[in-house]
Amino acid sequence: MIIEDSELADWKKAGIISAAALQHGVKLIKKGALLLEVCEAVDAKITKLGAKPAWPSQISLDHVAAHYCPGFEDKTILDAQVCKLDVGASVNGCIGDNAATVDLSGSNSNLVEASEKALAAAIKAVKSGVTLGELGHAIQEEIASYGFSPVRNLSGHGLGRFEIHTRPTVPNFDNGDKTQLQENEVIAIEPFATVGKGIIYESMPAEVFMQASDKQARDPAIRKVLDKIRGYEMLPFAKRWLLKEFPAIKIALALKLLEQQGIIQSFPPLVEEAHGLVSQAEKTVLVKKNGCEVLTNAEY
Ligand code: CO
Repeated sequence: MIIEDSELADWKKAGIISAAALQHGVKLIKKGALLLEVCEAVDAKITKLGAKPAWPSQISLDHVAAHYCPGFEDKTILDAQVCKLDVGASVNGCIGDNAATVDLSGSNSNLVEASEKALAAAIKAVKSGVTLGELGHAIQEEIASYGFSPVRNLSGHGLGRFEIHTRPTVPNFDNGDKTQLQENEVIAIEPFATVGKGIIYESMPAEVFMQASDKQARDPAIRKVLDKIRGYEMLPFAKRWLLKEFPAIKIALALKLLEQQGIIQSFPPLVEEAHGLVSQAEKTVLVKKNGCEVLTNAEY
């Protein structure tokens, strides 16, 4: 999305806060740590720094590429795993989106480096007029040079106010897309590298949801839950966030019905098809005439 000059300060603030929260989370990712506690600490950090979580922080392990969000009873303890932390902060709807991989296995530093170097190569190539295919090419080439595959059905994306995914789609391989980036567009670039096939599928169960339509719920009994969901301003939320106000059984029923009625959508965990390990790196950048400005650099 091309942003307005008047929004620029909010985009920059969101970028800095999401980067600071990501850094904070990376330090907390250690063997023996409770995954749920790390996610909650990252969300709390975002709030403390003056933003809102643009979505619940997520830690996806090993062959889970993205969108693993702990439920309130999640007992996952971090161990010798490849841990991907994805963090977003919102300032008046302007979003900083970034992710990093921590290798607790101690034997996959190459895989982590592959996605980081692919991200760096893509960022170096960003300027107004560069094509999406060229960015995908830069990513693919870097990941292939390490002997790994990019995940082809996960992509970077444009960001807009209160919009976590807009055009353009930034591919992780050269898909031949001739669409050119434009000055003042905000995009998130997020290469995923894997030892597997490079394809992900949607798993179960989803813990992250987002309002998708303004429609009213048909059943009066779940309207209170929908009212609460509307407060998340069309940004994703965790099922467990609703527990402060509603019993678990009511939430489960409401989410099921609201999804059936097309009022909310879910974001289930995304799993690599061959169960190959996956790494990810992501930053948000502002496209400039002759380059770009990384908005999610932590200079806090
Ligand atoms: Co993203």
